[in-house]
Amino acid sequence: MDNQAEIKVRNEFDEWAKAGRGEEMADHHLPITEPVLPLMDLKPNDRVLDLGCGSGWLSRRIARRVPEGRVVGVDIAKEMLHRACAASSGYANLTFNEGTADRIPCDDRSFDKIISVESAYYWPDPAASVREMFRVLDAGGSAWILINFYLENPHSHQWGPLLGVPTRLLSTEQWMRFYREAGFVDVRHRQIPDPTPVPDQYSGRWFQDAEQMRNFHQVGALLVHGTRP
Ligand SMILES: C[S@@+](CC[C@H](N)C(=O)[O-])C[C@H]1O[C@@H](n2cnc3c(N)ncnc32)[C@H](O)[C@@H]1O
Repeated sequence: MDNQAEIKVRNEFDEWAKAGRGEEMADHHLPITEPVLPLMDLKPNDRVLDLGCGSGWLSRRIARRVPEGRVVGVDIAKEMLHRACAASSGYANLTFNEGTADRIPCDDRSFDKIISVESAYYWPDPAASVREMFRVLDAGGSAWILINFYLENPHSHQWGPLLGVPTRLLSTEQWMRFYREAGFVDVRHRQIPDPTPVPDQYSGRWFQDAEQMRNFHQVGALLVHGTRP
């Protein structure tokens, strides 16, 4: 059964998708995601899950890197998936499924790698979701979560009320504990600074001013990853 938090998040991201914000996120998230792809050590035949895939820009990028494998994008928002499918018609090894991180609509041990970009702080039950990531990974597979909204980057904390949907502001240690408790080994983290140039003046709503945006970029996104033994 859908809970209220899930419904709010789904509705919100359906609206984002209709407003074209799914595609815009590619520009915002690519600079922090690009350094993660070599760390994932993608093999041409890897089976990869993009969890909270949005408009599917990363799913398509990864599909090109795993020509003998396959990529599945999963997202809670139908409109995001609609756009992801429409933009991916030329990709034979890429499919999209509606689902949630705490009930991933995929078989046990069906992936070698999982990546999730800027989605995990919306998950209502992050511990259960990390357990789900463990369930759908095959032995030796790895799961990679990348987020900008976390305790050790104070320059994003103002996003909580601005986002208008339930979010969870968790620490690096909390995320790593979810991984360890789910059974992951070799659980590690690192921070990935955003190299995007910051304008002299900032007039948007996400940061107080250009200096806060610069600090946010410098602290960077949190990457947490682990391996299923
Ligand atoms: C900020 S967007 C990021 C999308 C994409 N990963 C990107 O980098 O462009 C967050 C995405 O997570 C999805 N999402 C939020 N909560 C989710 C959940 N519980 N299960 C699956 N997807 C979820 C949203 O629908 C949205 O598409």
